[in-house]
Amino acid sequence: MTVGLLLAAAGRGERLGTGVVKALRELSGEPLVLHAVRGVRAVPAVGPVVVLAPVGLVNDLAVLLAPYDVHVTAGGDERQDSIRSGLGALPPEADLVLVHDAARALTPPAVFEAVIAALRAGAEAVVPVLPVADTVKRVVANEVLGTLDRSDLRVVQTPQGFRREVLDQAHARPGPQATDDAALVERLGRTVTTVPGSQEAFKVTRPFDLLVAAAVLRSRVDR
Ligand code: CTP
Ligand code: MG
Repeated sequence: MTVGLLLAAAGRGERLGTGVVKALRELSGEPLVLHAVRGVRAVPAVGPVVVLAPVGLVNDLAVLLAPYDVHVTAGGDERQDSIRSGLGALPPEADLVLVHDAARALTPPAVFEAVIAALRAGAEAVVPVLPVADTVKRVVANEVLGTLDRSDLRVVQTPQGFRREVLDQAHARPGPQATDDAALVERLGRTVTTVPGSQEAFKVTRPFDLLVAAAVLRSRVDR
């Protein structure tokens, strides 16, 4: 079985709040997307890679990522649109597909490997998860409406892994936007299973996350 990977890097990074798109935000002097692609290429089981780039930056990313043997193509308005166009650009031999956020640029190889192992063992859809550390409440207009039982809540990361025909089917079906690919598969009534995620697979979303990312990188140099 061939593992293909779609790297979603077409977002604007509005919550990071600078003029630069998130993929090109620098972390230890290098663009975030470069860290992400290096992380992907540290996993020998990953074959063809398609990087979804912001419209207008396809060529810049293709030049930047040329040493890593990836195909760069334009993403879409929403993340889901980006993934759909990535599926169209992925070579047919990829029968297992990982979908990964470039913003999770420091995801350790072990997380990719756990997702791939679960797919190879027969799962049709796999997500890395972590337990919820904080108490979670439902709040509307500053009023607490209730407290969720966090023991069966999980936060979900990427890479998310799928049998290709399942992901194709999930993206072909019309419906509201979802914030991850597994949610589309859940709508099909298919089974999504979990593997352990990693704190280092956090998503760079807000300025604080860049501080954390820099600290993680420093700790790797020291290790
Ligand atoms: N993404 C994408 N195409 C989009 C939107 C998002 O490929 N149209 C990617 C982002 O590049 C990111 C991942 O999906 O790697 C997760 O999205 P998010 O963290 O929300 O990134 P942005 O959309 O860039 O950030 P923001 O929502 O703050 O603008
Ligand atoms: Mg976004």
